[in-house]
Amino acid sequence: MSNAIETRILPVDPAHPDPATIDMAAAVIRAGGLVAFPTETVYGLGANALDPVAARRIFAAKERPSSDPLIVHIADMEQLAQVAAAVPELARRLTARFWPGPLTLVLPRQAVVPNDVTAGGESVAVRMPSHPVALALIRAARTPIAAPSANRFSRPSPTTAQHVLDDLHGRVEIVLDGGPTEIGLESTVLSLLGKTPLVLRPGGLSLEELREVVPDVAMRQLTRNVEASDEVLASPGMLTKHYAPRVPLLVFTGALPRVQQRLRAAAQQYVHDGKQVGALLPEDEQGTFGELPVQVVGLGASTDLAAVGARLFAGLRELERRDVDIILTHSFGSSGRGLAIWDRMLRASEGRIIDVDNEGERS
Ligand code: TXA
Ligand code: MG
Repeated sequence: MSNAIETRILPVDPAHPDPATIDMAAAVIRAGGLVAFPTETVYGLGANALDPVAARRIFAAKERPSSDPLIVHIADMEQLAQVAAAVPELARRLTARFWPGPLTLVLPRQAVVPNDVTAGGESVAVRMPSHPVALALIRAARTPIAAPSANRFSRPSPTTAQHVLDDLHGRVEIVLDGGPTEIGLESTVLSLLGKTPLVLRPGGLSLEELREVVPDVAMRQLTRNVEASDEVLASPGMLTKHYAPRVPLLVFTGALPRVQQRLRAAAQQYVHDGKQVGALLPEDEQGTFGELPVQVVGLGASTDLAAVGARLFAGLRELERRDVDIILTHSFGSSGRGLAIWDRMLRASEGRIIDVDNEGERS
């Protein structure tokens, strides 16, 4: 039973993790156990990537379908050669420029990577995180670490150790608490398997930055489920159900003045219907609802998309904790970090998008 584990929470200095603490966690990894750890994007739920039994425990703890492959985290280029069967020239240029960092590369796998990690596929997703705790843990464990985000399946990704505990307490041996993560959105996943490099998931590394190295990079359609490895198997109802809070999220998009007007009107209607209304808005738009009883959680300054992205998942969880009936928010464009924010909002809202410029729902 995955429910009977004692979970130890070990605080770590995010910049200079104590080697004794890291060694304790690394020993758990080497013994086939689970360790949740901070990365610069979100917290990961780690296990020895070369141990199929340990990898299967990740899926059980998260209640994640085994058809969805895991990212393998590495600390040096020797480990890349260990898990990827071919590292094309383009991959070398990308890793030289963006690793360690929020870029995951999908490459042909080495046979040593178990099917449980790749979901039976012939490719492997690899990332070298920049977080000192993640790097120290991988080095001390002396093995690549497979780690999805440390949330229960379909929940918002965890950006603090508390989020991990909320979802996985009793299902993981150790949680390394290194404080809130910096980026707060997952890595950009780039497939190098086809002729044209393809972004499967926008994330912490922007499309603009990627284009500096890969001018012809293609972007997968956002409304399709980039999380399911087998789209034929995934039922349509599951397609966008990711990062979802337990309460419905409604996303307004379009020109800002009209968006704010519609946010106000929607809040008024919900309040009138006796609903508890929550909203996620930048600090400088806190006045949007005037006197209406709306619980607004701040996302950072509207001009600072990094801050908005960093608080998105935490904000969803916070409003859920406050027991609101509905969460209102708006989009932040599609350039830079805005694209990853938009992608996560699409999924978290399960397509509940109101385009105020066209006043229809789009999905
Ligand atoms: O920032 C991140 O990427 C975080 C931290 C912990 O590193 N990890 C993370 O993992 O978000 P996860 O499992 O929640 O998301 C991994 C994504 C999924 O969309 C999965 O389908 C995709 O990467 N993926 C993994 N292996 C793949 C493969 N071989 N081919 C295509 N997509 C793959
Ligand atoms: Mg995830």
